[in-house]
Amino acid sequence: MDKTAKISYDDKSIDLPLITGTENERAIDIAALRGSTKIVTLDPGYGNTGSCKSEITYIDGEKGILRYRGYSVEDLCENSNFIEVCYLLIHGELPTAETLEQFSHKISNHTMVHEDIRKFYDAFPSHAHPMALLSSVVCSLSVFYQDSINPTDPNDVEISIFRLIAKITTIASYSYKTSIGQPLNYPDNSLDYSSNFLNMMFRIPCEDYEVDPDIAKALDLLFILHADHEQNCSTSTVRLVGSSQANIFAAVSAAICALWGPRHGGANQEVIKMLEWINKDGGNVKKYVEFAKDRENPFRLMGFGHRVYKNFDPRARIIKSYCDKILNKLGVNDPLLDIAKQLEEVALNDDYFKEKKLYPNVDFYSGIIYRAIGFPVDMFTVLFAIGRMPGWLAHWKEMMSDPKSKIGRPRQIYTGSTERKYIPMHKRTES
Ligand code: ACO
Repeated sequence: MDKTAKISYDDKSIDLPLITGTENERAIDIAALRGSTKIVTLDPGYGNTGSCKSEITYIDGEKGILRYRGYSVEDLCENSNFIEVCYLLIHGELPTAETLEQFSHKISNHTMVHEDIRKFYDAFPSHAHPMALLSSVVCSLSVFYQDSINPTDPNDVEISIFRLIAKITTIASYSYKTSIGQPLNYPDNSLDYSSNFLNMMFRIPCEDYEVDPDIAKALDLLFILHADHEQNCSTSTVRLVGSSQANIFAAVSAAICALWGPRHGGANQEVIKMLEWINKDGGNVKKYVEFAKDRENPFRLMGFGHRVYKNFDPRARIIKSYCDKILNKLGVNDPLLDIAKQLEEVALNDDYFKEKKLYPNVDFYSGIIYRAIGFPVDMFTVLFAIGRMPGWLAHWKEMMSDPKSKIGRPRQIYTGSTERKYIPMHKRTES
């Protein structure tokens, strides 16, 4: 295979190294480009830019493949659990039984949050979006653990990783409980990760509540499917913020904000809103597929399309197959599931969607399961954030431990005014 790529410009040329990944993905290493030529690359949205080398997650968007550390998500969903996947992503290998036990125990040890954090929830408006609360409270952990936030100290990093995985469910459940005026539940460390979260979310003091193991398993599976997705918007945010050596809580808090947007993790909330809207409007899915194709109409089919997948998103396939199972188990007959299935069928048979290779993504069916379990729509993106936490942490750790890693600082092509003289106020005219 070629070892260099030649770039010609004006009457000159430069040879740049070609590098190949373990799955034969190829890249031109342009690190020397500007230094040698004064030329930079321009790639808005970074669709052609590899921002780093990474050993964590592999995606083949054409074939619909997703693997964490070499293991397919299908295999992990079948045989693993979320905490083991957290270990795998962060440490690179599957743990032994003893290591997993210790890892799991350390996470359970950190599920409580400082009592003063509970007071924050009284100060936010009760209808505050839980993603705003999640990001704010996660960032505020950096002031509760000021003595252990040095991003270059391995002990500080280790304990911060446990704290983040453990506390995110407690923080998330507190925002839900506050929003509905119910007392906050403390974590119960005798329960597994997903059961503990369900218990904090849905237990009320005046009634017995037992976590349904099938529902806990389904939630665990959804967390596995969201656990990492290589250099997506929020993960790139963790790397970028972390590259300044801001502390890990600050970097993760920024990633939560990036995830919130409707073009990223916020799409799971938008999908349900869209399906509800279509349902109220008589369930005419064809009409909405036409809206999505109309260039004059800003409407997009939420939960469809992906920067990397030009085939079925393997996560969507697995989640869809679980929808019927979970809804049957809960005895829920949700008309939105029928609308989603019809919408998928019409879109997949439509030339516009076929030509642009737009398929359902991870967000298309996940909300139907969340809704059936009883999560309010506002919480959907928070659930995504809980699942994505190990991915963010694995990438942060990989970036920080790379001796070649530098502060993230892209260039630009300036297209503004050339130099001009300041105009005193009395000489300015309306343009
Ligand atoms: N509905 C209708 N048309 C679409 C859709 C959609 N959902 N998605 C993409 N297109 C069209 C675009 O209009 C564009 O058309 P054009 O070539 O005529 O201009 C073409 O397909 C390519 O789309 P881009 O937006 O350029 O693709 P990009 O890779 O930048 O965006 C994205 C990917 C943001 C996911 C986009 O498909 C989208 O907005 N989807 C809906 C939101 C969504 O579901 N987001 C969740 C993604 S998964 C995740 O982040 C967890």
